[in-house]
Amino acid sequence: LRAQKIEARLSGLVLSGPTLRRICDVFHREVEAGLRQEPSSLLMENTYVPELPDGTEEGLFLALDLGGTNFRVLLLELHNGVLVREDVKQYHISDELRLAPAEDLFNYLADCVLDFVTSEGMEKEELSLGFTFSFPMKMHSISSGELTTWTKSFKCGGMEGVDVAALLQRCLHERNLRVTVRVLLNDTTGTLVAGAHTNHDVGIGMILGTGSNGCYMERAERVQHWEAEHSRVRDVCVNVEWGAFGDNGCIDFVRTDIDREVDARSLLATSFTFEKYIGGKYLGEVLRASLAALAREGLFPAEPVNLVTADISAIEEDWVEGGTARTLRVLRQSLAKDADVSLTLSDAIVAQHVARLISTRAAQLVAVCVATLLRRIARPHVSVAVDGSVYKRHPRIRHLMPRYIARLAPNHPFTLFDAEDGSGKGSALTAAIAARIAAREN
Ligand code: BG6
Ligand code: GLC
Repeated sequence: LRAQKIEARLSGLVLSGPTLRRICDVFHREVEAGLRQEPSSLLMENTYVPELPDGTEEGLFLALDLGGTNFRVLLLELHNGVLVREDVKQYHISDELRLAPAEDLFNYLADCVLDFVTSEGMEKEELSLGFTFSFPMKMHSISSGELTTWTKSFKCGGMEGVDVAALLQRCLHERNLRVTVRVLLNDTTGTLVAGAHTNHDVGIGMILGTGSNGCYMERAERVQHWEAEHSRVRDVCVNVEWGAFGDNGCIDFVRTDIDREVDARSLLATSFTFEKYIGGKYLGEVLRASLAALAREGLFPAEPVNLVTADISAIEEDWVEGGTARTLRVLRQSLAKDADVSLTLSDAIVAQHVARLISTRAAQLVAVCVATLLRRIARPHVSVAVDGSVYKRHPRIRHLMPRYIARLAPNHPFTLFDAEDGSGKGSALTAAIAARIAAREN
């Protein structure tokens, strides 16, 4: 009886085949509207990256990678398109800085660059920089764009109308660094470009990490937003920003009361609601809210206070291995310190079941996006470059996704592959591509 009540209470988290196909149709309509610059929840932004690596990329590049779990500064050297050197340093971005005025954040980024080049003994050298800024941007060119909204755990004031690359450039100049920002790109683009280096038929780049998003190569003529001459451009990479899918209400039929609670408690409520079904920043919170909802109806012993996505991974790993001990440990830690609750084996089984519902839904929803893009690209085979902590660390999602994609896009063969550290390498490769194009056009 408890099982039946739980099923009924959480039935909204279960998406049927017809519902998934309906979401695909809506997603496709939003893709088309976004490309035409008609009202859409999808940004469908032109990245101005018109070609992928061809093995001629050369040079020494700095790269900044901001927006995922870690902020990193990298020095990368390419020779014939191959990475021959990669020095990386990770820097911490405090919670305060994530919410501080943008000037403070960018001054800190420039301080990190200064620290990094000094430790490399290169503070006097002229260097080109690729900036992977993993947030939605309205782009003016391959090296300039404005933030449309912060997402994930960042909310810095003073970014309205500010060119992201120009702001970084000014902070670098103020430190007397001879570093030039050559490209400004999203992490999905970095992943696509880096993936294309090893895999020649890459058509989609995707992140399944703190946030979730994808980009793909679209025919240039189908893209409305161009601020530059493009008559000779055949294809261009488009950043979908699917985290915002449905912010206009078009898929409210998948939203549950649990999702509304997660959204309301998030840093940026009512924004990037689709990402809150999928991203590593939120999955743990979806589990917490689900178990709390069960607890309020007497179906779970207590309301958990805190659960993160690593906990979901641990709980499901336990399930995969047929155990419950880890699950019980995670649940015990998730409760208030003074909670006088005894957890039973069946509570662990309930938590495992709910965790699986949540991650299955996440895999299905990402699959909707990928399947729709595969059908749009319509090539004999498409490789999909993937990066991000959820994809890398969650025990089931990476295996579930291809199953659902294949169901939603039958007859569209594809392969998902890991583009490990795609963004760092991708921004250096993109800077090299930009240099190649500039040389050709001059
Ligand atoms: C990393 C990329 O590998 O994946 C980042 O270098 C990207 O740029 C990240 O944002 C996404 O994963 P996460 O889990 O760190 O958000
Ligand atoms: C968020 C950002 C997007 C990024 C994604 C993955 O959705 O808005 O730009 O690609 O997270 O990091």
